[in-house]
Amino acid sequence: MGCKIAVFGTGYLGATHAACMAELGHDVLGVDIDSNKLASLASGKAPFFEPGLDEVLQANIENGRLRFTTSYPEAADFADIHFIGVATPQKRGEFAADLSYVDSVIADLAPLLTRPATIFGKSTVPVGTAARLQQTVLGLAPARDDVEVAWNPEFLREGYAIRDTLQPDRIVLGIDRERPGRAEQVARQVYSDIIATGVPFLVTSRETAELAKTSANAFLATKISFINAMAEVCDVAGADIIELADAIGYDPRIGRKFLNAGVGFGGGCLPKDIRAFMARAGELGANQALTFLREVDSINMRRRASTVEKTRELVGGSLIGARVAVLGAAFKPDSDDVRDSPALNIAGQIQLQGASVAVYDPKAMENSRRLFPTLEYAVGVAEACIGADITLVLTEWEEFRNLDPAKLKTLVREPRIVDGRNCLDPERWRACGWTYNGLGTR
Ligand code: UGA
Repeated sequence: MGCKIAVFGTGYLGATHAACMAELGHDVLGVDIDSNKLASLASGKAPFFEPGLDEVLQANIENGRLRFTTSYPEAADFADIHFIGVATPQKRGEFAADLSYVDSVIADLAPLLTRPATIFGKSTVPVGTAARLQQTVLGLAPARDDVEVAWNPEFLREGYAIRDTLQPDRIVLGIDRERPGRAEQVARQVYSDIIATGVPFLVTSRETAELAKTSANAFLATKISFINAMAEVCDVAGADIIELADAIGYDPRIGRKFLNAGVGFGGGCLPKDIRAFMARAGELGANQALTFLREVDSINMRRRASTVEKTRELVGGSLIGARVAVLGAAFKPDSDDVRDSPALNIAGQIQLQGASVAVYDPKAMENSRRLFPTLEYAVGVAEACIGADITLVLTEWEEFRNLDPAKLKTLVREPRIVDGRNCLDPERWRACGWTYNGLGTR
């Protein structure tokens, strides 16, 4: 029999988790304070682009297993299993994570918990948060220590959110090792179908679980910055970063995944997570342990600056009056997310240096317009490229990989291309008369 589950927060993480828990056969109530978001979700449409999510939403709304509400009393009455999936963005002007959304879920929910309940945190939080929240709950919940706070980090990637939730690499559950309660048993029940397929289920302390998430993202960020640092060396040494990544990636201890050099990482997770991790380590007195992440961050930001620089050089030393076509705005393909997107950041910097910049992205136009209203937005590749002195591919959408260089050449003023994701075939573009420039590649 399915469990009754409430999921607090209906952004990427919460909406996907709610839909997938219903897909597993549970009765799910998605809770958010944003009624517009809920209205969209309740009509079977996610307020963001995530392949496959609308279908899962629609199927489970139709079969009655998935509903949405703004009411915390309704959620507390309905479920004894509560997942927290709200955002933990970077604090303004600081590296640390802003935990106000997580804290306010607990502040509003805990006083309503009169029966034994389990709260599973899924948001990415600084180590020590779960233990702190447990103390808050103890002070606020009528059911007192019958309410358990456990941490169950989420490792999903945007663009693969459904698959990563229903077929994860592993499930990590952090519990209070001193006073283990029902959390493990409840999690085993919630995820029984997934565990039955052989997915590893790791029970750890709450601190280890919190760290598993932040250190996984720190590792991935490090891997990307490592290859981007190698790309810088390739540039000056006359070597090729794609061949290098292939050559080292065949070693299974290294692995080829996340070794794609380019304009670097962005999004709502990796950049802010490494910063929050550094801030937390500092608070705990272990700041030296993570000083390398500062370097990871600067290598990554340098990619953006050097792409702007390269563009400037290629148009003859000054961007003033140049017409620049930017293909891609999302922080990665198959997403409409533009949070800390290298593409938009580069487009913005180029515009600040006096160029006129036309941006096109298959999915992220609306979000881009909201964030960077002063850039020019085109309805398609052709419109963006008309009269361009230089064309930049900054997000590796399939549509851009498949562009026809011969056709595009008839639209631009100068056939110059910067491949910021090393996703095009240089020979094909050169054969059509383009000046091709990859990052760290010939
Ligand atoms: C990342 C992690 O991959 C997830 O495991 C994690 O759950 C998630 O953050 C999170 O904390 O919620 P996501 O932000 O969706 O997922 O995106 P990634 O696929 O990790 O890509 C991050 C950035 O790195 C993108 O801008 C991408 O273009 C860039 N990247 C990725 C590279 O520049 N090179 C690569 O080889 C791989």
